[in-house]
Formats: sequence, C-alpha cells, structure tokens
Amino acid sequence: MAHASAPFQPFALRGDALREAILAYAANPLYRDNEEWENSDNPYRRQLRPQVLPHLDFDRVPGRDSVLEYSSLAAQRLLTSIYEADLVFFPRAGLGGLGEDFRSFYSPDNRARGELIRPALERFAFGFLDEEVEVSGDWTTESLLAYLDGLDVHARGGASPAEKAVRDSSDPRRAARMWLIQFAPDFLSEASPMARNILGCYGAEQSEWFKILIDEYGYGVHRTKHSTLFESTMESVGLAPDLHRYWQYYLVSSLALNNYFHYLGKNHEYFFRYVGALYYTESTLVDFCRRADGLLTDVFEGGADTRYFSEHVHIDQHHGRMALEKLVKPLIEKHGTQIIPEIVRGIEEFRLLGAIADEDFATQIAWMDDADRYKELHGPVHAAIQEGRVTAPVADIVEPHGELSNTHSHEGDELCHIVSGTMRFVSGFDSYRILEAGEGTVIQRNRLHGAIIESEECVYQIHSVGDHRACLS
Ligand SMILES: [Fe+2]
Ligand SMILES: [Fe+2]
Ligand SMILES: [Fe+2]
Repeated sequence: MAHASAPFQPFALRGDALREAILAYAANPLYRDNEEWENSDNPYRRQLRPQVLPHLDFDRVPGRDSVLEYSSLAAQRLLTSIYEADLVFFPRAGLGGLGEDFRSFYSPDNRARGELIRPALERFAFGFLDEEVEVSGDWTTESLLAYLDGLDVHARGGASPAEKAVRDSSDPRRAARMWLIQFAPDFLSEASPMARNILGCYGAEQSEWFKILIDEYGYGVHRTKHSTLFESTMESVGLAPDLHRYWQYYLVSSLALNNYFHYLGKNHEYFFRYVGALYYTESTLVDFCRRADGLLTDVFEGGADTRYFSEHVHIDQHHGRMALEKLVKPLIEKHGTQIIPEIVRGIEEFRLLGAIADEDFATQIAWMDDADRYKELHGPVHAAIQEGRVTAPVADIVEPHGELSNTHSHEGDELCHIVSGTMRFVSGFDSYRILEAGEGTVIQRNRLHGAIIESEECVYQIHSVGDHRACLS
C-alpha cells in the first residue's frame, strides 16, 4: 500500500510558534538585563533584552538595507549565545559561585531551546546573502584560480574605513578600544568555529586543516595560543580579557561576522563555503594584521602589546597558502568542480559581511565622536515638536535611580528629552553625555546606545521623529 507523503519542507519554526520558542529560550535568567555596563568574569551571562523580543518579527528575511536594525542585533545576540553553547567557557577566576549559571548555560533545556530556534534565526540573519551574492556560470579550476588572483589578497592595501575611523577619531584611544572590543567575540575563542570542521573522517584534507587549527591553538603551548595573545593585547590597553565583559558594546555587524563562521561550521552542508571563507580570511589577515599592528602602535605610542597581530603577519602567510594548496585544490580534485560555486560563495559572502562591518564601525565612531553635536540638536528638534511643526509618536517614561537601559538601537531617529532628573546617555565604550532637565539628545537610527538614571528619579520623553533632519527645515 502506498503512503501519501507530505512534501519535504526545510525545518524552521514560523509565526507564533517561532515567537513563543524565542521567548522560551530568552526567559533563562542568564539573558536578563544587567544592572552594570559590563559583565564581570561570567562567560554565561549575555544580555538579550527578553522584554523587547515579543515585539520583534523574526519570521522574515530582512534585506541588506535592514541588517543593522535592532531586530538584527537581537538575532545576532541570540545566535552568538546559541552557537557558544557548543564551546567550553569557565570564568578566569574559576567557577566559584557561578556553578548554577554554568549548569544553566549548558543545560539540555537551554541547548534544545536554542537549537529549535536556530534555523529560523539563521534564515533571518543570513538570508539576505542569497539575494546579495550571485555566483553563477560554469566554473573550472582555471577560472577559479583566475578569480582568486583577481582578488589580490596579498596586495598591500590602504586603511579600511574602520581603521581610518580610529586614526581620525577625536579620541583615537577610545576608538581603538572600541575596535578591539569588536574583535573579542572572535579572537577570545579564536578558531573555535573552525574546529567544527575537524571532526569526522574525510581524508587528507582533514589532516591539513588540523594543522592550521593547531597553529591557531599555539601548538598546545598556552602562552602562544592566538586567543592568549589577544588577551595580552586587551590588557595592554586597559581592557579586561574576560569573555563577553563588553557584550553590550558589540555592534550587530561584528557579531554577524563572527556568527557567520559558526553558521558555516555548524551546518556542514556549507563546508565548502567555509573553505572559501577560510582561504580569504587567512590570506587577507596578513595585510590586515600588518596595518593593525601599525595602527595600535601609533595610537598607544608603543604601549600596546601587538604580538597577536605580528604573529598573524607571519603565520597566515602559511595558512593562506595551505588553504589554497592543501584544501581548495585537493578538494576540487576529489569532489569535482561542483564545489567551486560554494567556495566562491563563501568568499563573496564573507567579503560583503566584512564591508558592512567596516562601515557600521566607522559610523558608530562618528556617532560617539559627535555626541556634543547630537546633544545640541536637541534644541531645534524639540522646538519643532513644541511648535507643532513636527508630530511624532511620544513615549513618557519614569525611571528610578540606577535603572540601566541595556544597549540597543532604533530603526528611526529619536529625540530624548529630559523633563526632570539626570540621565547618563551612553553612545559607545567610554563615551557618554550627562543630560539634565530641559536637555536631551538626538539618537541616530541604528546606532548602539544605552542610558542610566543618575538622579533619584528621571522623567523623560522619547519622540520617534523618524528623520531628525526633517525637524530642522
Ligand atoms: Fe589566528
Ligand atoms: Fe591563521
Ligand atoms: Fe533608546
């Protein structure tokens, strides 16, 4: 007897089921708001702002023009937390009183709930890449090599927008710290996504990839493990190296870059994309690290420990070559040209995410540097609202002393107006303005910010003006 079979559908929760599953995951006390700006030596705590999640729609694929919006930040924060349940973390000072957090983070409940929502969140977070990246045509090994040649991965490039933003900042040291913070999710557990491709049994290429991995791990010598070198970089410029201390200062695009490798490594159908992205990142890191070394040396006048970067200038010359000669070429020989479009896709997707991250970071530094200008803009924008030239939805808010709005962003410009009390408005790491009654600030769309109440109570308004420039004419 024949069975009528339902058409095969890819698994991803949709609609209300997805919303409820996300809320169930984020209801874990580990993910609640923090009362401090930084986590202190607790790798299990990650602020997911669960109270806002019911209002977000993850059942869609945002286009490229929306990937910096708050929903995307929320999705990338969720994904970071979900992927990292596969990684082993302990507080630097030992488990101490954090046993309950440890068991909760690695509990079957937390892991199963995360896995349940992961496919839908990955579709939300990385689905736009399907639209943006086109890899078509018939590929041969020769055309791939010509394409790789054209990428000019070994060229000495000029400063990226992010590096330029650090150098040109009104406070280059603060900007450089903010920059290093963006690398922390990746560098402090460096090569963990890569390690996902080391398990299994797939021939000589597996052993070649393993060689790259053990280099990243300092060949078992802890002080030369790449993540250890980066810890020293952080400490040398006054940052603490404990995992996700600066969680609230990660930009959406920085999390996306790191999550992208977990996404490829977790889903082995994307193995060949990872191979492409690996080749590209290892090859281009040589020049990037040379520039980063110079930048940090200049900004901190020799005070930064840049061994992390100088080590990569050396070792990644090998890793780039190994990725090409020992992985890309033999894999094509073994599995055929069918894998080439996937290799190219990995390269192109990673390049796009890198360009987005560069731009996002540079914009954030400008937003931090321009804090006075945005504070001054409160005057004319508030006047436009008072005089009825502009009507915008308004929220009246009363908060007690010490209330900390954990960092977030908005899809449109907003005007924050203080009615009474005092607010410390934070626009990035070590970047804030004090707002008193009658004062306020324009909040630029998609820019990371947060606030803490410094008076006994603070009454303030948030006017959702959309585009603040419309209030100035
Ligand atoms: Fe490395
Ligand atoms: Fe490397
Ligand atoms: Fe806000």
